[in-house]
Amino acid sequence: MYKPIYSVGATPLDPDEVEGLIPDHIETQMELNSWEQANINDAELWLRKHNFTTSKILTIEFITQLHRKMFDKTWRWSGQFRKSNKNIGVDKFQINENLKLLLDDTTYHIEHQTYPIDEIAVRFHHRLVTIHLFANGNGRHARLITDLLLVAENQERFSWGSQNLYGQTDARTKYLNALRLADKHNYTLLLQFVRS
Ligand SMILES: Nc1ncnc2c1ncn2[C@@H]1O[C@H](COP(=O)(O)OP(=O)(O)OP(=O)(O)O)[C@@H](O)[C@H]1O
Ligand SMILES: [Mg+2]
Repeated sequence: MYKPIYSVGATPLDPDEVEGLIPDHIETQMELNSWEQANINDAELWLRKHNFTTSKILTIEFITQLHRKMFDKTWRWSGQFRKSNKNIGVDKFQINENLKLLLDDTTYHIEHQTYPIDEIAVRFHHRLVTIHLFANGNGRHARLITDLLLVAENQERFSWGSQNLYGQTDARTKYLNALRLADKHNYTLLLQFVRS
């Protein structure tokens, strides 16, 4: 039986979501991590064959499709919004509405250059993980889609601390501290972190 071991800041899964795990041979968090990573690599290969525009990326269809591509061999509920409330994120019934507002706001920010592009991307990333669309995979999904948005705007992808963000790495601690500061509407640490 799979017993999840959570890294700091990772969302606990409900038992029904653990049941949604597709591979039946996975017993450790490490096995799950590498299985997920292989799935995400497939998504990256799919992404490389396409050029997505900002207006395509900033749609509910694309956002859910990307999560499905990243986790379709891992979770039966990939690409579906979470059906339970978590210790992080908006109420499950408000996900759709909050996401629509975020997409409209981000489209407006880009059109009107309300902030420098890095700050638009950072604000987008933070609000996306704050809504917490899915039962799992929100961090990785929101980092990847933020990078896609940057590429669509002819910018370099973020480096996200240039280290893996799994486990209790220095980079993960910095990332989570920066997100917590952004929870208080201060984006300075997150802006530094994403290009470090
Ligand atoms: N205080 C916070 N404010 C905003 N977002 C947060 C906060 N704490 C954690 N998060 C986000 O939630 C993510 C964890 O959610 P979830 O487990 O669904 O994603 P994940 O992709 O599986 O996580 P991981 O970052 O371990 O790859 C973190 O990566 C981070 O992006
Ligand atoms: Mg997780």
